[in-house]
Amino acid sequence: MTERQTDIEIEFLHMRLCSPLVLASGVLGLSSSSLKRVADAGAGAVTTKSCGLEPRAGYVGPSIIPVSHGMLNAVGLSNPGVKEMVREVADYRARCRTPIFVSIFGGTVEEFGDVAEAVAQAEPDLIELNVSCPNVYSEFGSPFGADIDATAAITRRVKQRVGAIPISVKLTANCLSIGQTAKVCEQEGADALTAINTIGPGMLIDLNVRKPVLSNLCGGLSGPAILPVAVRAVWEISREVSIPIIGTGGVTTAEDALQMILAGATAVGIGSGIYYQGLEIFDKVNEGVQRFLQEKGLGSLDEIRGTAHE
Ligand SMILES: Cc1cc2nc3c(=O)[nH]c(=O)nc-3n(C[C@H](O)[C@H](O)[C@H](O)COP(=O)(O)O)c2cc1C
Repeated sequence: MTERQTDIEIEFLHMRLCSPLVLASGVLGLSSSSLKRVADAGAGAVTTKSCGLEPRAGYVGPSIIPVSHGMLNAVGLSNPGVKEMVREVADYRARCRTPIFVSIFGGTVEEFGDVAEAVAQAEPDLIELNVSCPNVYSEFGSPFGADIDATAAITRRVKQRVGAIPISVKLTANCLSIGQTAKVCEQEGADALTAINTIGPGMLIDLNVRKPVLSNLCGGLSGPAILPVAVRAVWEISREVSIPIIGTGGVTTAEDALQMILAGATAVGIGSGIYYQGLEIFDKVNEGVQRFLQEKGLGSLDEIRGTAHE
């Protein structure tokens, strides 16, 4: 029997990605050089750190701490502002062909629209709307992603302002029904969905100083601990929508990535895994996914996408 040719390339919206793995926002996504390093390491697409209208310093340290099976972070959306991000994207484009997704945030629906329009000048392959960061209560109220009407309004406004550039709404699991939120985003014109952002927020207390460890007191939980929550979220979303999903949260192995695909994801985000394994994680997971397809006699990931629902 001849062995079937195995292919981990995927079709994502109008793009052909060399791998289903996408760099998640916030990890190594600030400069064109670091984004290119991730692309060269085997990511099928890269997502920038979320950027806002103006530069933002973020919170002072400690802002990232390891916990058992995960990480707690409250970086505070530090970013150089949209003007600088547009320059970084142009520089990346001149040096690298791997698709680039630009993540944005805003304090109001209008601001989301303004940032999106400014970012659209750089012609990214996709704009990701971070409506779901769990650490920014003080300035922004509770995350938009927990409010279905606000999420709908942001999606509609951004879609009106960015023309033909596809948008993905990044959802939080901290909401009543992620499936219903996803459905509303699709109805408002979202081209894709990314799920999930960090969960929580959570807190850890330092026994020596008897105070919370993070300078912001609380932070979002990521890494292997949140994989089951993320897989469940992707499962629920894929029951409600037909647009593609970037399944993100706790993926550190090929088995984790395959669970996301079986739950219905088209692509798979990797963030915290880079802290544990370095950039080799992309090759390792790509190879593991390829091996799985070969061993099971499958030609492509399309043959198993969403099949855990059957
Ligand atoms: C240090 C750090 C910074 C992050 N910054 C952002 C960000 O700027 N925008 C965003 O949408 N998500 C951000 N995230 C969330 C990740 O993109 C991802 O959704 C989450 O960490 C779950 O995936 P993971 O377990 O693979 O890290 C950040 C995560 C970490 C760990």
